[in-house]
Amino acid sequence: MAIVSRIIGTGSHLPEKVITNEELSKKVDTSDEWITDRTGIRERRVAKEGETTSILALQASENALDAAGITADGIDVIILATTTPDNTFPSTATKVQAMLGMNHGYAFDIQAVCSGFIYALSVADGMIRAGQAKRILVIGAEVISRILDWTDRSTCVLFGDGAGAVVLEGFDADDGDNSGILSTHLHSDGRLREILYVDGGPGSTGTIGHLRMLGREVFRHAVTNLAAVAEEALAANNLTREDLDWLVPHQANKRILDGTAKKLGLSEDQVVITVDRHANTSAASIPLALDEAVRDGRIQKGQIILMEAMGGGLTWGSALVRW
Ligand code: UT7
Repeated sequence: MAIVSRIIGTGSHLPEKVITNEELSKKVDTSDEWITDRTGIRERRVAKEGETTSILALQASENALDAAGITADGIDVIILATTTPDNTFPSTATKVQAMLGMNHGYAFDIQAVCSGFIYALSVADGMIRAGQAKRILVIGAEVISRILDWTDRSTCVLFGDGAGAVVLEGFDADDGDNSGILSTHLHSDGRLREILYVDGGPGSTGTIGHLRMLGREVFRHAVTNLAAVAEEALAANNLTREDLDWLVPHQANKRILDGTAKKLGLSEDQVVITVDRHANTSAASIPLALDEAVRDGRIQKGQIILMEAMGGGLTWGSALVRW
């Protein structure tokens, strides 16, 4: 029996604390005008002391489980994408497993920075289709604020904290409902790891390090790679740009979102945008945006949704879904 995986619930959670561009301009040499013009970001959420990735992930997970109408008892596996784990080890996923009171199954983290959610979704989809699991909780959660150099205006204005989650379930592909994950495509090019990286780590400096980015270089690759993965996803499913209903992209920069939408011939109101309020929340940005558009009713059954992301590694990829 062929199996297809479907998203049966979405959830998200943001820290309460808001930092506006105006507030940032009092700390570093920047302005609301520069940040808004160059990125579309107006404000971001930042976790308070003690508010860790697992705490944000737990809230998002509970919301996704509620939306799916199940409890953690109904989950076989937890896959959590993060670049800012609570500890170097054990995985933050195992912490969330314990917090959810889930005493069966297994949990693990995935590290693909801003592409982490797409990577996690792809792994989960493959596991379900292979019959290794029936239901998987897929989470993207970050406290990127903890690895920012708050004196570096070229990076600290760009990021925010948050978490999003989906529950994925396997169904008989021939059950008459043609919804589900149609395809995922993953890519990486390790030669480009030095244009977006953290200058520390447990195995090198023994410190956590800070996020460093050659913004203009990353921007250039993002525009090219994101358009390419979109075309790749459509071609793999014999679909055309006209078939797309929604773009739910990783939220790094409004200019990148506008550029991708234009290349795909999508209007601005077919792109789910949260970057203005969330900034770049790395692995959390896609499930945060997805949850918003599902809950406010924009995303409807039967529609075709393209999710795509690019991040450190470089890593990039797509997931095409019929809702
Ligand atoms: O999520 C992973 C993927 N990440 C991305 O996709 C991010 C991709 N990159 C970007 O979004 C953009 O490149 C940035 C928003 C990071 C930068 O925008 P840009 O238009 O590429 O600006 P730039 O780096 O070329 O810098 C232009 C100027 C520079 O000054 P000079 O050298 O022209 O005098 C910067 O020093 O803007 C200056 N600058 C700032 N000025 C005010 C850089 N950051 C700031 C700032 N406030 N915060």
